[in-house]
Amino acid sequence: MEELETTCRIRPGYANGGCAGLLEARDLCKRFGRSGVLAVDRASFRAEAGEIFGLLGENGAGKTTTLRLLATILQPTSGNALINGIDLVRDPGEIRRQIGAVFAEPSVYDRLTPREHLRYFGDLHDLPRRQVVARSTELFRRLGMEEYADRRSGQLSRGMKQKVALARAWLTDPPVLLMDEPTAGLDVLSTQVVEEFMSEARAAGKTVIFCSHIMSQVEKLCDRVAVIHRGAIIAEGTVADLKSRFTQERFEDVFVRLVGDKP
Ligand SMILES: Nc1ncnc2c1ncn2[C@@H]1O[C@H](COP(=O)(O)OP(=O)(O)OP(=O)(O)O)[C@@H](O)[C@H]1O
Ligand SMILES: [Mg+2]
Repeated sequence: MEELETTCRIRPGYANGGCAGLLEARDLCKRFGRSGVLAVDRASFRAEAGEIFGLLGENGAGKTTTLRLLATILQPTSGNALINGIDLVRDPGEIRRQIGAVFAEPSVYDRLTPREHLRYFGDLHDLPRRQVVARSTELFRRLGMEEYADRRSGQLSRGMKQKVALARAWLTDPPVLLMDEPTAGLDVLSTQVVEEFMSEARAAGKTVIFCSHIMSQVEKLCDRVAVIHRGAIIAEGTVADLKSRFTQERFEDVFVRLVGDKP
């Protein structure tokens, strides 16, 4: 529920629809207090407006933590990021107006229906009710959620909850999307819709940061990728660049070469 709670501090006056995005992480570090784990280790990368930027890495590499830092759910131990020119550390409230985030573990309010979720988030962003209704109707239709739009979210399946989280992230049409394994557990049709949404976001000049373990999806969607290993970015480029740099035909093999023999 952590990301839901942070959204509650969004300042009113949201009017980002249609804006272009851009994101620059600068030496981001996150060390978790009790365990002392350095989950993100001076990660720097830049994702342009109109780009789907893949963040790839093994389990535990630091992808989700990086996205949680960018979504202002966690505070960096050091380093910073600029999102649409806004300083992450100095102005997290403003950053929240620029982003829509979806995490692999969908967090929804069990007692609210999908429709109530969107209404609530629309209110937090000060969106006109009529706009929320129109956008919700479109999102429910595209994601095939109409049948259960008025059922309590606690009774929904995992994939259905994931769609609530997706609809919530897209409701405000933000310039920057942070997508952490957004299609994990989704059926084929819904996966296609999510991929279409990401492509549409790119075409509209938005920035999409996309984490996935599905290499075919990464190859299909990402303009550029960064590979993160033990919290540090160890390679960056287009899929084609990385394939030629490592003289591999399959992107899976590039990935194995990059991280497989590293301690
Ligand atoms: N809240 C936390 N407290 C302590 N350590 C954490 C916390 N969250 C993550 N970590 C640690 O940070 C490291 C990076 O985890 P993270 O979830 O970012 O990995 P990931 O790349 O998203 O992996 P996966 O592909 O499995 O989702 C791991 O060593 C993990 O144990
Ligand atoms: Mg993760």
